[in-house]
Amino acid sequence: MVNTNVFFSLAILSISIARAVPFKNATPRLSDDINPFCSSTENKTLCTSMINDAMTWPSATTNAIYETLKIAAKGKPMIDDLVNTLKDFGFSRISKDSIKHTCNEVNDFAIECLEGALDDIRYGYIDGLITKLSVVTGPSFECTNSVKKLGIDSQLFNYFLELELYSRICLSITRVTLKVL
Ligand SMILES: *[C@@H]1O[C@H](CO)[C@@H](O)[C@H](O)[C@H]1NC(C)=O
Repeated sequence: MVNTNVFFSLAILSISIARAVPFKNATPRLSDDINPFCSSTENKTLCTSMINDAMTWPSATTNAIYETLKIAAKGKPMIDDLVNTLKDFGFSRISKDSIKHTCNEVNDFAIECLEGALDDIRYGYIDGLITKLSVVTGPSFECTNSVKKLGIDSQLFNYFLELELYSRICLSITRVTLKVL
């Protein structure tokens, strides 16, 4: 009789363990790992790393924009290097300068948008912030089109794609914030 009871309680115990373990495993750890400002972003891991533990929306958005500016800072040296590789293919100095000029203008525009967005956060000008974050890489085709026939467009294209992803993440952080406010 005692043996049966022991078996019975062990059976119950093992059932509750069996139930508890999968339940615990199934509990989403979202709130631990993902910053709440990143809840509706396409790449939550990247978004969380861009926010860098900020707990208020201005600092979350500001941190994310600074990370985006770090990407944009890679633009000018890359553009200049790429255009310089054209030297060997007999391009005139004028056409190389013109490509460099166009692509750097597009990149400067992106940097101006991001720096302007930081000012808009400081002054609480949300409409301006959203507008600027929406157009960061808007004119990038002017650069990529101008180099399409020269075979250096894919690196520039990927660069602007990355800059666009970062900018979209900044925008989504702002949009989450607006829903909360
Ligand atoms: C998120 O972004 C990182 C960095 O760009 C990338 O390595 C990763 O593959 C992306 N994840 C998804 C799900 O797109």
